[in-house]
Amino acid sequence: MADELSDLTERARRDIAAAADAAALETVRVRYLGRKDGELTTRVKGLATLPAAERPAAGAALNRAKSDIESALAAREEELRARSLAATLSVEKEDLSLPGRPVRVGRLHPISRTIREISRIFLSMGFESVEGPEIEWDYYNFEALNIPAGHPARDKFNTLWVAQDAATTVALARTGTGGSVARGSAGRDMGPMLFRTHTSPMQIRTMEQRTPPVRVVVPGRCYRFEATDATHESVFFQYEGLAVDEKMSMADLKGVLYSFARQLFGGERKVRFRPDYFPFTEPSAEIAFDCFVCDGTGTTDTGRCATCAGSGWIEAAGCGMVHPDALRRVGYDPATVQGFAFGGGVERLAMLLTGTPDIRLFHQNDLRYLETV
Ligand code: FA5
Repeated sequence: MADELSDLTERARRDIAAAADAAALETVRVRYLGRKDGELTTRVKGLATLPAAERPAAGAALNRAKSDIESALAAREEELRARSLAATLSVEKEDLSLPGRPVRVGRLHPISRTIREISRIFLSMGFESVEGPEIEWDYYNFEALNIPAGHPARDKFNTLWVAQDAATTVALARTGTGGSVARGSAGRDMGPMLFRTHTSPMQIRTMEQRTPPVRVVVPGRCYRFEATDATHESVFFQYEGLAVDEKMSMADLKGVLYSFARQLFGGERKVRFRPDYFPFTEPSAEIAFDCFVCDGTGTTDTGRCATCAGSGWIEAAGCGMVHPDALRRVGYDPATVQGFAFGGGVERLAMLLTGTPDIRLFHQNDLRYLETV
């Protein structure tokens, strides 16, 4: 039995070594170890016919032969795989002349870039950048800013309203849910909710939560019922500025905005103030920067300056001294502290900085345009 088995193992080894590929190797495996008629398998099955005393030694010899054949099969399989890989590699050479697949690198949207730049500049002047809710109470958006129901200034601020049971609204306001209700507003009827029309509600919210000195800049999304055109969107961004301290005056407002204009547009930019009206500032003004393309002349080498439409000025924001009523409403004493505030459009600045002729190009999300600015 032992001689016979070592002959069988030897034969199997030779057949295995002679198998030229994976298919031939499989044929050899079936020949010796195949479950039905494999030479070794048949002998294992024959164990039962041996006298009981011979079975253990015969069984052990069969197991040894089986594991010898299995290891030879595995070694040859590995050898054939390595050989076939080497053959493939010698034929399939890497083609280094193929151009690589372009990797699309993401970048910030021009609006995000402009917001960061605005915040960076005001941060350098000691302002903190904060954000507020886009869904706002009527109280913060209008009432607390001296725009009561029926005030004509509401007309310019038509927006989306959030349907809500009036009683629930009052209850929410009392518990402070859905918005911070701090000093001055606790227990108030906050009115219905709406998509905020400007970032000015954050003037009141900030003052309610802080004591002077206050210096914040508030970038954020605003909503208006607006017929869109090249300079108007119904969803757009504003940046609000608020500073409250002792002895604040229009001179401080001017100084801060001069510095802002110079840092944003460079050069010795001039700032023009013209009287304007906002119910929550007194006095109020409209700010314009002299045009950084034509240097305020209104004309360029090619004729009328397209950036400022020949006026020499770029309108930037509304501003003014915080109305004493607004200060009192949050518990500040207007005899001790005064404040200035301003609010401008982010897109309008982004248009100027990137030379974008139509505000709608920013929000259509067409990469063919956005990738160029
Ligand atoms: C306001 O919204 C006031 N809250 C500004 C203010 C703040 C005044 C603090 C006083 C003190 P106004 O409606 O003018 O004002 O808007 C301010 C700026 O937002 C505009 O100058 C313009 O740059 C931008 N803006 C207004 N409406 C739109 C719109 N539909 N699309 C794009 N930008 C707009």
